[in-house]
Amino acid sequence: MRNIVAFFCMLLTPCYAFAAGFESWHEHHDTATPIWVLPKATAPENMRWTKAQMPGDVASKRFSGPEVCRGCHGSIYDQWKGSMMANSWIDPVFLAVYKKYIADARTETEKSEVAMCSRCHTPSGYLDNNMGRYFQGELSETDRHGISCDICHSVEASVGTGNGAFILNPGDASNGNFGTKFGPRSDSVSPFHATRYSELHSRGDFCGMCHDVGHAHNLMAVENTYTEWRRSPYYTGDPKTSTHCQDCHMRQNPTHPATGSTTLPDSPGFAAPEGMGAKKRDHIWQHYFIGGNFVVTTLLGNKEAARMAQDRLEHALTIQILDQEKPLKKGRAGTLRLKVINSGAGHYLPTGLTFVREMWIHLQVKDAGGNTVFESGALDAKGDIEPNAVVYKTVLGEGGEERSPTFFLPAAFEVLYDKRIPPKGYSLEKYHIEVPADARGPLTVHANINYRSAPQSLINELLGKDAPVLPVFTMGKVEKTIALD
Ligand code: HEC
Ligand code: HEC
Ligand code: HEC
Ligand code: HEC
Ligand code: HEC
Repeated sequence: MRNIVAFFCMLLTPCYAFAAGFESWHEHHDTATPIWVLPKATAPENMRWTKAQMPGDVASKRFSGPEVCRGCHGSIYDQWKGSMMANSWIDPVFLAVYKKYIADARTETEKSEVAMCSRCHTPSGYLDNNMGRYFQGELSETDRHGISCDICHSVEASVGTGNGAFILNPGDASNGNFGTKFGPRSDSVSPFHATRYSELHSRGDFCGMCHDVGHAHNLMAVENTYTEWRRSPYYTGDPKTSTHCQDCHMRQNPTHPATGSTTLPDSPGFAAPEGMGAKKRDHIWQHYFIGGNFVVTTLLGNKEAARMAQDRLEHALTIQILDQEKPLKKGRAGTLRLKVINSGAGHYLPTGLTFVREMWIHLQVKDAGGNTVFESGALDAKGDIEPNAVVYKTVLGEGGEERSPTFFLPAAFEVLYDKRIPPKGYSLEKYHIEVPADARGPLTVHANINYRSAPQSLINELLGKDAPVLPVFTMGKVEKTIALD
């Protein structure tokens, strides 16, 4: 882990040189199109079809910093502080990629895609048109807090879902007006700020505002988490009976992962001190917002968030070795079948940044003497997954005649490959095995399913010989003894 810290510290070195002319990019970036407009019958009452907010529409000084909220909402603050959303701007991986894209973007389309990045990673910075100033080191403290309390709780309405479809209506903190906090309660009274019930906040459509990302220019699906959820059995067609993002991600606590394969427990208590007027609730919505990221959370010193991410990954799927259709025979080719079930995630596995994340099967078959009879999914000497492995991920392409695969999102045009496991669905994998004539039975089959935040080759490409080894996490494993005829 120490290597990784050193590596990311290197990436944090300022790259002001890239800033040249960046401010003017916004001139070519004058749309932010939501990907989904929901039918009225299922849309929350505060989703409306108006124009999306654009840079210049909301001054960043109007937002309160999270320390202000901490005064009364201490435990919610502590939970949020360790999350990736609290770090969505200072996240060194985000910054490294963002800076590289700025340096490499050439065409107007590529630039308009890069101008979009800050819309979700620092909404207040984007709406204040602060992005050019960032590179002169002038981004405000509030903007550096990324997706802070006052971003989510100033969401008065949305213009649909996807591509940052929020309408933010903060007070004006710079003038001592703390505005209205939009939230899930209709009986909430605070001495500090006004409160207003927002149907949007208790629905997956709220998270969908940012968790569906389409390319700014061609709308190609870059991240599809909301769409995956909305089309899954977790969305029943009736918002009241659906399992929303919040039901899994805002019910996790340090001792319970809260996934589709576990219960979704209540955390009873108070959202603020009772003396301030807070009421005892059966469940206080938790703000850990844990996903799969245990690498950056570790790097940023949030050990608890990192451990909770591993707890989540361990409760996302089930892997099984199926019974043999035909027995394996010495000196013959045979088939081994595996089933991977998405039993815990409300979206595809993996989801989010799937052209970067890796999930794969490492299968090993050994004979009674401990000799390896078959192996698939091992890492090669460079740390990459061997090419014949079963890997769950997407690959983006640049289009054109060559249709080359690319990690350079601004130039991406199409999804070339998509092999992932749908929510409550499964994937069947068949392995063809040549059993050596001298193998001794019975055979032992070990199957691990692994998760890594990014391919080793991508990290190597960024860093050359100083590249660290990214950790691999085992999400699930199974072992089985099978007879050999
Ligand atoms: C002086 C104390 C105090 C401060 C500071 C404070 N709040 Fe509150 N807040 C409360 C109390 C009390 C409640 C009511 C809790 C309840 O209903 O049980 C509340 C309720 C809320 C709710 C629920 C609203 C609803 O209708 O569902 C939200 C959201 C909220 N606060 C956000 C914030 C944010 C964001 C900040 C920082 C900008 C903040 N609060 C600062 C005391 C405070
Ligand atoms: C519409 C909202 C939105 C926009 C626009 C957006 N992102 Fe993101 N980004 C997200 C979300 C949501 C995630 C979390 C997904 C996940 O972790 O799998 C994310 C995650 C990432 C990560 C992963 C960080 C890590 O630590 O693993 C990187 C890197 C990233 N984004 C870079 C960018 C860049 C560069 C751009 C502009 C080209 C961009 N994003 C534009 C919403 C957005
Ligand atoms: C990513 C968006 C997001 C961020 C960031 C966020 N919240 Fe929330 N918060 C929500 C949502 C959504 C709910 C309601 C969940 C539901 O009803 O399903 C909520 C609920 C609340 C409630 C009501 C809790 C209850 O159960 O009565 C309070 C109070 C609150 N948030 C305060 C804060 C404070 C303070 C911060 C910053 C430390 C913060 N929130 C950060 C999205 C957010
Ligand atoms: C304003 C935009 C925005 C909203 C609204 C939003 N998110 Fe996020 N979320 C992001 C971005 C950007 C990231 C990526 C941060 C990073 O990795 O640098 C992220 C990261 C996450 C992660 C961590 C992913 C990982 O790889 O570990 C989880 C979990 C998450 N969000 C859940 C939610 C849930 C649940 C909601 C709704 C209650 C929500 N988000 C609403 C923008 C948003
Ligand atoms: C049934 C429970 C469940 C629901 C509903 C659910 N999730 Fe998840 N989510 C999980 C589990 C389990 C993981 C860990 C596995 C993984 O990382 O893919 C996860 C991971 C994530 C990640 C991290 C992906 C990565 O590895 O980079 C993000 C981001 C996320 N969820 C956002 C959302 C959003 C947004 C919604 C609603 C549109 C949602 N989730 C609904 C269970 C759920």
